[in-house]
Amino acid sequence: MSKHGAVEQQLSLYPPPEDFVRRAHVQGMNAYRELYARAEKQPEEFWGEVAERELFWFEKWRHVFEWDPPFAKWFTGGKINASYNCLDRHLATRRRNKIAIIWEGEPGDQRMISYFELHRLVCRFANVLKSRGWKTGDRAIIYMPMVPELAVAMLACARLGITHSVVFGGFSAEALKARVQDLEAGLVITADGGWRRGREIRLKATVDEALAECPTVRDVIVYRRTGGQVSMQEGRDFWWHELDEGASEVCPAVPLDAEHPLYVLYTSGTTGKPKGILHTTGGYLTQCAATMKWVFDLREEDTYWCTADIGWVTGHSYIVYGPLAAGATSVVYEGAPDFPQYDRFWRIVEKYGVSIFYTSPTAIRALLRQGDKWPEMHDLSTLRLLGSVGEPINPAAWEWYHRVIGKGRCPIVDTWWQTETGAIMISPMPGATPLKPGSASFPLPGVIADVVDMNGDPVGPDKEGFLVIKRPWPAMLRTIWRDPERYKSQYWNRVPGVYFTGDAARRDSNGYFTVLGRVDDVMNVSGHRLSTMEIESALVRHPSVAEAAVVGRPDEVTGQAVCAFITLKKGNWDHKKLSDELRQWVAHEIGAFARPAEIRFAEALPKTRSGKIMRRLLREIVTTRAVTGDVTTLEDMAVIGRLAEQRGEEE
Ligand code: PRX
Repeated sequence: MSKHGAVEQQLSLYPPPEDFVRRAHVQGMNAYRELYARAEKQPEEFWGEVAERELFWFEKWRHVFEWDPPFAKWFTGGKINASYNCLDRHLATRRRNKIAIIWEGEPGDQRMISYFELHRLVCRFANVLKSRGWKTGDRAIIYMPMVPELAVAMLACARLGITHSVVFGGFSAEALKARVQDLEAGLVITADGGWRRGREIRLKATVDEALAECPTVRDVIVYRRTGGQVSMQEGRDFWWHELDEGASEVCPAVPLDAEHPLYVLYTSGTTGKPKGILHTTGGYLTQCAATMKWVFDLREEDTYWCTADIGWVTGHSYIVYGPLAAGATSVVYEGAPDFPQYDRFWRIVEKYGVSIFYTSPTAIRALLRQGDKWPEMHDLSTLRLLGSVGEPINPAAWEWYHRVIGKGRCPIVDTWWQTETGAIMISPMPGATPLKPGSASFPLPGVIADVVDMNGDPVGPDKEGFLVIKRPWPAMLRTIWRDPERYKSQYWNRVPGVYFTGDAARRDSNGYFTVLGRVDDVMNVSGHRLSTMEIESALVRHPSVAEAAVVGRPDEVTGQAVCAFITLKKGNWDHKKLSDELRQWVAHEIGAFARPAEIRFAEALPKTRSGKIMRRLLREIVTTRAVTGDVTTLEDMAVIGRLAEQRGEEE
């Protein structure tokens, strides 16, 4: 287990501002406690009421949940459609002409899309998919930049019951290929490219490379975003705008089973192979919609902005499904936070009057480093609530966010959750919870969380242990795509009878949870989840590499940075040149965001007598430059001494 923050800092609490409490959906700690107790004692009634209140059902469910451990079903017998809930439902209300998406491209182009207009775009595109023969049960890969059509593609799939899998645009052709193959997708929806820091990211070219070995793919639909050069393969590739011409604007949403697979999202696990996390429809949407109120305290007049990429789960739940189901006006931005300069986020907040702003600790730390002058250039007075997600937020970054961005007025919701949980699980309720910087505070209603040891016994206050969830929740993953055995062993067999999150946590005597980081071979770099094994497998595929061991090194901005220890095959290698080449290699095999920050060449790696690489020791070396832990099983002590003295090739 990691040994974060042995010395507990005495941190002051920030009570919710009075005027915030007065207007909040959940007012004060007693209201939170009541909700929590109700959900704990009567989960079926509780979730049934939430589902009924927040969503439209074509047919009501027979059972709120069925639990055949570790497989859960929610709202069985119910019929629902996610696209209908995000669009059609609002058209009969005052939201018909409300702006659903305020979009800003990186070059500065803008679009304001009302619910009425978004519905029209989705219906047209769903009809395009229909006309190409795609239907309920089929599977589509979506590989697009952050343009409104990415949401349109997702909602068009959801409308017809086509299960989508969005692949983050930063993934390489190799990574894309693996996902297309695992999903056995028939359809790929992509674009010519997108803009990032003024450069075109050429997505279609990457798709072409990936599809060379994907025989299941019959159609590729290409949205024109940049106008860059692409090659179109006759009979396989089609322009979105050509197919869309003359498409009907009427396309009824298909009433789907509540457990119909809405999407698969691949995430890194502890092996080299990514896991396809399966989310279904009714339970997922219920919890996404509920958390929009509990956590973001969403009101009709808010302008809400989540800066994540839709390619990650945060974008699925809190740019697309949650906000649209809740009828929000949501900002979507295509590009980088520092382009053309460091005030881009604050410029957007000012320009559109953003009131709720949700981002990652990495972004906060990176912007904090540039100094207060950038936020000070802008009027941020429309902000009323700030959020953080994806990694632990250190108290110093929290304080800066609170003081400089929120001007001391705005509560911060530090939201803990995972791709697997589908929706926010542990977070303050901004009108109720006194905030403790660095702590995600309390579990939300319906979430029974605990900190336990390997046997499942609670460790008690202020002790570090494993964060577990003790009862199924509506938005939970249902399985790993085509791998139920891995689902069982990864999540349910580690600690008897409970869901194992893979995170270490501590709970103080007042019940505040502080999530400390991963306890497995998963790293968190800039809030992106990476598997050490996946990077190692990529490295050993390079002809020069004999062995590779990857560990996370603490980093001031990105939280963790990738550090790779390499032993080379026999030969005369130029280390400087080779480390650049290996970085490039990882970018090609996985994506640029997985590129090692540091590469260290070693004569040997520390191993146990049975030959297993001792990553724990390597982690200690990169963290402290010394090894204090148990080395009794180490085969060759001298290896450690040599590694600890060495410096790596830094990027
Ligand atoms: O380690 C935890 C960290 O991010 C992991 C989940 O990563 P991913 O599935 O990519 O989803 C990220 C967005 C929900 C968790 O296992 N994590 C997420 N939020 C927090 C966090 N760690 C500490 N505090 C958080 N608020």
